[in-house]
Amino acid sequence: METLIPVINRLQEVFLTVGADSIQLPQIVVVGSQSSGKSSVLESLVGRDFLPRGSGIVTRRPLVLQLVHVPPLEERRKHDNGNEAANESIFTDFTEIRKEIQEETDRGSGDNKGIGNDPIYLKIFSPNVLSLTLVDLPGITKVPVGDQPEDIEIQVQEMILSFISNPNSIILSVSPATSDLATSDALKLAREVDPDGRRTLLVVTKLDLMDAGTDALEVLLGRVIPVRLGIIGVVNRSQHDLNTRKSVPDAAKDEQAFLQRHYPSLASRCGSRYLARTLSRLLMHHIRDCLPELKTRVTVLTAQYQARLNSYGQPVEDPSAMLLQIVTKFASDYCNTIEGTARHIQTSELCGGARICY
Ligand code: GDP
Ligand code: NA
Ligand code: MG
Repeated sequence: METLIPVINRLQEVFLTVGADSIQLPQIVVVGSQSSGKSSVLESLVGRDFLPRGSGIVTRRPLVLQLVHVPPLEERRKHDNGNEAANESIFTDFTEIRKEIQEETDRGSGDNKGIGNDPIYLKIFSPNVLSLTLVDLPGITKVPVGDQPEDIEIQVQEMILSFISNPNSIILSVSPATSDLATSDALKLAREVDPDGRRTLLVVTKLDLMDAGTDALEVLLGRVIPVRLGIIGVVNRSQHDLNTRKSVPDAAKDEQAFLQRHYPSLASRCGSRYLARTLSRLLMHHIRDCLPELKTRVTVLTAQYQARLNSYGQPVEDPSAMLLQIVTKFASDYCNTIEGTARHIQTSELCGGARICY
């Protein structure tokens, strides 16, 4: 079944193709201080190991991660044949993907902890994902290390703001349970661009690392800082889990067990699976809310292209025709699929390939 979000993803591609980056489409952006668990949260959403993670500054360039729902392997091979852009590398091994992201990070921002503004685009094709665009960002830092400039804090903040000020982005504000929520840089930045909290979701990581005798119940119940769209506690894999290669399914099982044991009353509203479900619901609402404005912008853009085409006075390839076709389909799919899509959330087992585009 054709769902709403693949259409959005296609729209996005078309807009990029025609250089119309003024059209802003929904995407999910993770924001938080360094090592708060942003990359880990994204990984558990995708359900496979492929992002570079660890202590210190690991994510040093924005990573725009497009999950693309595709039919099972056989069909897809047929479908994709000969369709690859020249500048793409195709990977099917997730370890290789991580290596490639690391190398591409070094190519773009040096190998001594420098950061870069140029995003890395990564597409993951799988029959087992909901089509979503996720953006992994470098963490908020205070003190320059390695090749980082004196104003690293400002630079990173500006990069983050450039992504989250997009009104069509959903902000996943990641804060560890081990530090005071009132000092959360992630929430502070989110509030700057989303003062009413209409598109900010708080993810509280590291529930397992809290001091003995303390818990995050008050935080998770929204009694410390209320967050309109919700507060979801998760337990990601620890550094030890990463070192010993704990699998995603095992981690999910342990996470559930932990939540049942420590937060029985909240267990059904916490954890990575619940986060995935909440996100897709939010995305759906968000798309619905943005639709009228999106349509207006497309109409304006189309008129502009038409005017330009007319002024050329000779036949040229017509991008607006393609736009119109897709937008029309978008509008007609919209009504039928908005509910249907919500039932198609799966974050387990990826078996597709992935592409890194530069
Ligand atoms: P990022 O810098 O925000 O992207 O954070 P990472 O995802 O790279 O995680 C930083 C470190 O914290 C890694 O060693 C992770 O294993 C660890 N970590 C992240 N989330 C959790 C969690 O919920 N529990 C535990 N024990 N460790 C975590
Ligand atoms: Na880190
Ligand atoms: Mg990271």
